[in-house]
Amino acid sequence: MANPSTYYLVTGGAGFIGSHLIDLLLADPATKEVRVLDNFSSGRQEHLAHHEHDPRLKIHTVELLELDKVVPHFLGVDQVFHLAANPDARWGIENTRLDLEQETIVTYNVLEAMRRQKVPRIVFSSSGTVYGDVGTTVTHEKLGPALPVSLYGAGKVASEGLISAFCATFGLRAIIFRFGNIVGERTTHGVMYDFIRQLAKNPADLKVLGNGHQAKPYVYVRDLAAGLMFGQERCRALPPSQFDVFNLAPDGATSVRFIATELLRQLGFSDRTKIHYGEATQGWPGDVAQSRMDSSKLRAAGFPIPRSSDEAVSFALSQILQWLSGRTSQLDDLRLPR
Ligand SMILES: NC(=O)c1ccc[n+]([C@@H]2O[C@H](COP(=O)([O-])OP(=O)(O)OC[C@H]3O[C@@H](n4cnc5c(N)ncnc54)[C@H](O)[C@@H]3O)[C@@H](O)[C@H]2O)c1
Repeated sequence: MANPSTYYLVTGGAGFIGSHLIDLLLADPATKEVRVLDNFSSGRQEHLAHHEHDPRLKIHTVELLELDKVVPHFLGVDQVFHLAANPDARWGIENTRLDLEQETIVTYNVLEAMRRQKVPRIVFSSSGTVYGDVGTTVTHEKLGPALPVSLYGAGKVASEGLISAFCATFGLRAIIFRFGNIVGERTTHGVMYDFIRQLAKNPADLKVLGNGHQAKPYVYVRDLAAGLMFGQERCRALPPSQFDVFNLAPDGATSVRFIATELLRQLGFSDRTKIHYGEATQGWPGDVAQSRMDSSKLRAAGFPIPRSSDEAVSFALSQILQWLSGRTSQLDDLRLPR
């Protein structure tokens, strides 16, 4: 069914995932406007540059911590995608206020702005980290209590709680997605980003945090963006005050060792680079070394994730290498290793 004319607002729309979502929103002729609110802390103009001639895309440099400045931007919006956040769980180790502000307070501000401007629907990017460190237990949406082991995960739990409360109290509708690990071109953080940057500096050695047996489910970013589009259709169909939660990750998991060896294989560096594994089972404190997520609820709802985790990793690596081969910006030292 075609989407009715819609005004979208995407927080964090200049980010890795947000920019892929915007590609899909702008590909839909029913889209009237896509309003991006981003402070460009990790977002990049380059991610949206290919849309510069589309008048439906309105990019606003906004700090979401400043509620009074945020509220006017929500006027006339039908559907929010809330993606802005601290993107990297490791950063919360150095700065313990980061996730409190970038997750909990920013999510509160988004919900409060929606309440004040009577915006009815939100799709939220949560994470499998909410389940905490439960080893290889396959997590499903009703598994609880949610006891995360990182401040990032704690911020996601708090945000989910706020969404539940705003829905019940003020009649909002929401879809919460708990993502696995998202990979693909325009990456700005994460394991593939780290490995490629290392190899660009020194192709002889690749250092892995932890013993490389950490294994998590991976999703290719454009598949995830398609899932977000599915989510907004589900959101529209919800009655007021209702919300629903879905894992968005394939069954199974991919090890860091697979990612390292697959990257070297695709680069043709298998005989050139020595991989140095650490000894710890975790990559860093708060890292959930093992994660398995049950995606049967999403599948039953009508969105089967199209690739297995290993397939997503291999495909994402090929897309990243292709993207890097044509990328002109090297502000972040992310470039094709030679
Ligand atoms: N990438 C993953 O593997 C993954 C996994 C699980 C969940 N998520 C969630 O998905 C969402 C998007 O992640 P991403 O990987 O695209 O990260 P990203 O860093 O590329 O995107 C986040 C965007 O939010 C913006 N932003 C951050 N704080 C802001 C603030 N205070 N005001 C305005 N803008 C702000 C950044 O500039 C950036 O453009 C996040 O909520 C993240 O927690 C990502």
